Order: sequence, then C-alpha cells, then structure tokens
Amino acid sequence: MTIISNDDSGIKTKNKHSALKNPNIKAESIEYDQTFENSIRPKDFDNYIGQSELKETLKVILEAAKKREKPLDHMLFYGPPGLGKTTIAGVIAAQMGVDIKITAAPALERPRDIIGILMSLKGGEILFIDEIHRLNKVAEEILYPAMEDFIIDMTTGKSQTAKTLRVPIPKFTLIGATTKAGELSSPLRDRFGVIHRLEFYTIEELTKVVERTAKILQIDITEAGAKAIAIRSRGTPRIANRLVKRVSDFAIVKYDGIIDEKVANESLDILKIDEFGLDNTDRALLNLIIEKYDGGPVGIETIAAALSEDVRTIEDVCEPYLLQAGLLQRTPRGRKVSPEGYRHLGIKAPSEQKTLF
Ligand code: ADE
Repeated sequence: MTIISNDDSGIKTKNKHSALKNPNIKAESIEYDQTFENSIRPKDFDNYIGQSELKETLKVILEAAKKREKPLDHMLFYGPPGLGKTTIAGVIAAQMGVDIKITAAPALERPRDIIGILMSLKGGEILFIDEIHRLNKVAEEILYPAMEDFIIDMTTGKSQTAKTLRVPIPKFTLIGATTKAGELSSPLRDRFGVIHRLEFYTIEELTKVVERTAKILQIDITEAGAKAIAIRSRGTPRIANRLVKRVSDFAIVKYDGIIDEKVANESLDILKIDEFGLDNTDRALLNLIIEKYDGGPVGIETIAAALSEDVRTIEDVCEPYLLQAGLLQRTPRGRKVSPEGYRHLGIKAPSEQKTLF
C-alpha cells in the first residue's frame, strides 16, 4: 500500500479531526496513529468484521472482475469517519492482488498533482481518494476522461496555439471515500459503478473488533471487557481500537494487566467517555443547545463558534453519532436536542417539565 499524501492536508486532516474529537486522544502522535491503524487493518474479508451486505456485494463484484479479467468498476464509499472506508479499499486491493495508492482530495490541489498520480498508475491498480467531495473543479475535469476512457487530456501551448493531447493511461480503479456524498457533483457521482454507504457497527461487531485488536496487540481481555469497550465506541471501529489501547494502558499501570469489565468501565470513566460513548465535546454540544438555546433549533455555525470548534469537525465527527443515537435532531431551522438527549444528560425535557399554571 502506498500512501502518496504526506503533506499537511490529505489523510492527516482526517486524523486531525478525529484526534480533536476526544481531548484524551488528542495528545497521541498523529503519525503513530496512522502506523497503529495500518498495523491492525484486516487484509481479507474474513478478518473484516461487519458491513456484511457490502462484503457480500463486493465478493461477487471481485469474482466477476477476475473471471472477466477486467479491472473493477470505480467505487464510492460514504459514511461517517472511522467506519472502515480505507480499510475495505485495502482489502479489495489485497483480494485482487493489486497495489493501492492512497491520497486525499486536499492533496490534489494543482492539476499536476492529479495528473502525476494518474500517470504513475499501473494496469489494474487502485487509486484511493479520501474526502473526494473536496476535489476542486479542475481536478474533477481531469478525472472524468481518466475514469471513463482511461485518458488524460493535456493542454500544451497557450490560447490560440493551444493543443489538446490525449494521453492514454493504464486501466485503473478509482475508489472514492467521503463523509458527504451529497456534496459530490453529480457528473462525478455518476461515474462510479458502485456506490455504497457504510453503516455504524453493532455492539456485537465492535466486541469482535476489540477482541481481534487486543489479540494482535497481545493484550489480555475478557469478553465482558471487550463488550464494555464496544458499548462506548460510538459504533465506530477506529474509536474502539483507540480505546483498546488507552484502556490497556490503565490495565497495565493501575490493575493486573487484564482488561475485564470493571477495568474497562473504570478506565473509560476516567477518560470521561460515558455509557453512550459520548465525550466532553459531545456533552458540551448538547448542554450548549439546552442551556443557551432552550434545546434548539440552533444553526450549526452558532454551535461551532460557541464551542470553538470548526463546523466540519462538528458536522463530520460529532453529529453523525449523536443523530444516529437519537440524542440530536436535525430540523430545517437547525439542530435540536431530543427528549432522549435531555434524559441522557439528566435534565428534564421541556415536555416533562411541570408548568405552574
Ligand atoms: N479495524 C477497523 N475496522 C475493522 C473491521 N471492520 N474489522 C476488523 N478490524 C477493523
């Protein structure tokens, strides 16, 4: 696997956001995080837990492509961060026996960035573009003929003497990943043969992810310990994997090294991650809407400014899980805390508060 983007924008941006998510995780080196994630990524479908519908679809697509001896269709995976979009792309590459080049849209700012990558691809190779909704117009225009006809249209010379050169490139497969499928332009979206949404993981699936990671890292864990971590992982394997490491530190320093239910719960309490997996930022967000805006609705810009976070972090990292957990609601006039959200914070919802008259 080749990670092309090593500047400050691409892949690291995503990690910066997720690192920002939890103040206790923030301190970790982002570089180290990437290495850690790569070291535990499953390489085949059997070890890739969850997303069963997607896996079944992909198995058929991959087998058909192998039988036809043709490259795979371009694919678009979307959904909240940390659900395994890069991981599944790596599994696809490994199963097809091809290399994968990984980059992210913010690293493809200039035409020569995208042209350089496209020209470097070998036949059958996979190009993975993360945050593909952030691709600029020029890069998109270069990508269209490349995706459709495996051609790069290059312009040489200036204005009247300008000539367009059609340069063929090897047949490749583009895998795009995004947290915001709705922000993709429709011409780009239409060029993907497969479009699939990744779902949040169930507690059972996350328990398996935790057990698998603990085994790889040679950490002793009981099933109840794994489940306790899974419960507080917000349906997200990336979070589950980080929590395994953090709880394991506690287990070694404060306990006898084994993660059981008590060790997991006590460690996660200290890390201020509650029974729903919410951290300080999530609770601050719900509290803000309740206390300052009577439970909402309130606009996302106002929320982000009040929390000193950027809108993208709130939208991409905090909100998806709060919405999915039913603690927050999205309305045309802004965000509202649901009765469950009030209950979770131990505050009576307005409908439950007694009126005096
Ligand atoms: N690590 C991250 N995502 C995973 C998954 N879906 N299965 C197993 N391990 C993972």
